[in-house]
Amino acid sequence: MKIGILSSGGDCPGINATIRGVGKTALNHFGMEVIGVKYGFQGLLKQEYEPLDDHALSGLLNLGGTVLGTSREKPFRKDNEGGEDKPKIIAENYRKAGLDCIVCIGGNGTQKTAWQIAQLGLNVIGIPKTIDNDIYGTDLTFGFDSALDIATEAIDRLHSTATAHNRVMIIELMGNKAGWITLYAGMAGGADVILLPELGCDIEKVNQAIINRQKKGKSYSIVAVGEGLELDGLKGNPASRLARLIEKGTEIETRETILGYVQRGGSPSAFDRNLATRLGGHATELIARGEFGKMVAVKNDKIVSLPLEEVAGKLKLVPPDHDLIVQGKRMGISFGV
Ligand code: F6P
Repeated sequence: MKIGILSSGGDCPGINATIRGVGKTALNHFGMEVIGVKYGFQGLLKQEYEPLDDHALSGLLNLGGTVLGTSREKPFRKDNEGGEDKPKIIAENYRKAGLDCIVCIGGNGTQKTAWQIAQLGLNVIGIPKTIDNDIYGTDLTFGFDSALDIATEAIDRLHSTATAHNRVMIIELMGNKAGWITLYAGMAGGADVILLPELGCDIEKVNQAIINRQKKGKSYSIVAVGEGLELDGLKGNPASRLARLIEKGTEIETRETILGYVQRGGSPSAFDRNLATRLGGHATELIARGEFGKMVAVKNDKIVSLPLEEVAGKLKLVPPDHDLIVQGKRMGISFGV
């Protein structure tokens, strides 16, 4: 069998470990041929490939980013400016390349595109990837644990400067519409206020919580906020607006940090390396068994799979009764609602 692998959407630590997991299992255990497709679905459209042999697959386990490159190409978008029939081109190029399956490593958009490609009659396997951890059907995505370590360390570092200046320090964390990184890093980093896109925010309650801390002698506060939080009716990029509203409402000097892309950088954590390896191996096993149109996933620490059509178009958001939220509230942490 000949399989192609592509990585699509935002990069994150663990993609290369996944490529290695699929590739080495395919080559060494199943005797398959493996090619890398460059820059996500763009590589299928432009027939940009590179062979993935043992040499190409070495040194990938701890390497950040993706050796294949990525893009946010969405071939099924209705408004494609070029006007060409991208799905038709993809199907033709898949067959020209002599592929028996295409493995799509990516987030929500990628899994939806994978499902659409499967509906063209092509053999597809999806592998969930994102620091956001917002993919339906899997408990965890690789990238999340690595981002969590980075974000938690950043919050730890903000404590010393906040106390030195008696300031409110705001850190805006990635996650798109989901607050998983903000919740887990906020709790791990000891944030005093954690603002999640899923819960929204009442700025009066945030300011009151900060003032109450001040009255108890804590003249600094750490606020972790998800980038997707809607504030004043405006969606996204809340840090600077939030800083001004807090400074005005509490009269405490406030500064903001937008942690941004460092959350997606660098080497994957040990957990993400092993999760990526496990998912990659299972994806290859499904291919060998001829089970296509599925996304591999982790459920209760077991590697499983589910139909792509069950995943497509869905998001996994933080539930309001998540135990970290319940526990945080009991400990006096404000969630702004
Ligand atoms: O999906 C991962 C992610 O980092 C989100 O957390 C973030 O909102 C988005 O990608 C940024 O997209 P881009 O890399 O296209 O700027």
